[in-house]
Amino acid sequence: MPLHLHTRLTHSGRPAHTAGGGPVNVPVVRTSTVSFESMAALREQVRRRAAGEPVSTYGRQGMDTQRALEAAMCELEGGSHTFLAPSGLAAISLTLLALLGPGDHLLVVESVYHPVRKLDADYLSRIGVQVSYFDPAQQDVQAQLRPNTRVVYVETPGSLLYEMIDLAPITAACRARGVSVVADNTWGSGYLFNPLRHGADVSLVAGTKYVSGHSDLMMGMAVARDATHADRLRKTWEALGVAVGPDDAYLALRGLRTLAVRLRQHEANATVVARWLAAQPQVERVYYPALESHPGHALWKRDCRGANGLLTVQFRGLDLQQSLDVADRLQLFDIGASWGGYESLVLPVEPHRLAHHGQTLEEAALLRLHIGLEEPQDLIDDLAQAIAATA
Ligand SMILES: Cc1ncc(COP(=O)(O)O)c(C=O)c1O
Repeated sequence: MPLHLHTRLTHSGRPAHTAGGGPVNVPVVRTSTVSFESMAALREQVRRRAAGEPVSTYGRQGMDTQRALEAAMCELEGGSHTFLAPSGLAAISLTLLALLGPGDHLLVVESVYHPVRKLDADYLSRIGVQVSYFDPAQQDVQAQLRPNTRVVYVETPGSLLYEMIDLAPITAACRARGVSVVADNTWGSGYLFNPLRHGADVSLVAGTKYVSGHSDLMMGMAVARDATHADRLRKTWEALGVAVGPDDAYLALRGLRTLAVRLRQHEANATVVARWLAAQPQVERVYYPALESHPGHALWKRDCRGANGLLTVQFRGLDLQQSLDVADRLQLFDIGASWGGYESLVLPVEPHRLAHHGQTLEEAALLRLHIGLEEPQDLIDDLAQAIAATA
């Protein structure tokens, strides 16, 4: 019987019953040393690990808690192997270091999460990786591939304005050329969208956001579609000593149990707030994929299970300073980076981060909102007072 993804989320990674019963939750196994009762037992464990079995000979490799989270992430994303990292950015750098070397070319979507540009400029370029950027709305990705292109890096969808991307034609073109496609799927967090099912080779999720759901955790996951990519990721993961503690793995697993229900509520709340904002005279535009006015709405409807709590509002008749005043006047929205927790957040969108959209947006006043799990009418009242007092 095929089960819905949210049903599977409540079961995946749970411990099997022993002796007829047991806990529903996986234990938090805290250890650095793994000890063996004989040399033969140690040798056998080393052999099983080398053969790709999910067993450990040392704490850094992770124990039952991390294994359960890896299994749940594979189930969610439709992948074969998951590698855990101490932050979303660490999962991104792990993956790019695993798949790229000196002389290789990396093609990155222009709407990328800004720290990836820093990784490109400050690290990958230094080790001889050539990096260029593309706008999927303007350019044919295939035409941007070079003989030495090894990775195309996309975000599903883009940071800040949530530009949707038609992934399947890109992955088909890349597969034909032996180019790997890596997708940052933090927006969908394995539930709203599944890049691997559209042909991507690695799906990256900052578990810091919706997987955790409670703003109490830093975590990254790199989920590989096939054994070839898993092998390359594993070698780099082991070489770099990337590891995640069992308490964080437990929190991420706990977050996964309620991921679907939280995302539905974030979407319901954000949709109400987005529609209200879009009707205000001081608002030029609201960027939210579930709104019919969003340029990627048709793709979103075709490819995604829903939307989340992230939206960006572009003001009309307010300058940059006034948009910051709105942020300052909000009482229910904390000013802060990150998103995906239960709480509403506001952060100005720095104009230079939208430079690739041309001058109109470079001069616009925009705020990114994360709509949390509060009552949406309370959030609307708060936005109304902040906008009225400023405008
Ligand atoms: C789209 C996206 N990817 C990756 C990350 C990085 O995650 P972390 O903060 O856990 O390093 C973020 C963080 O804001 C993000 O927004």
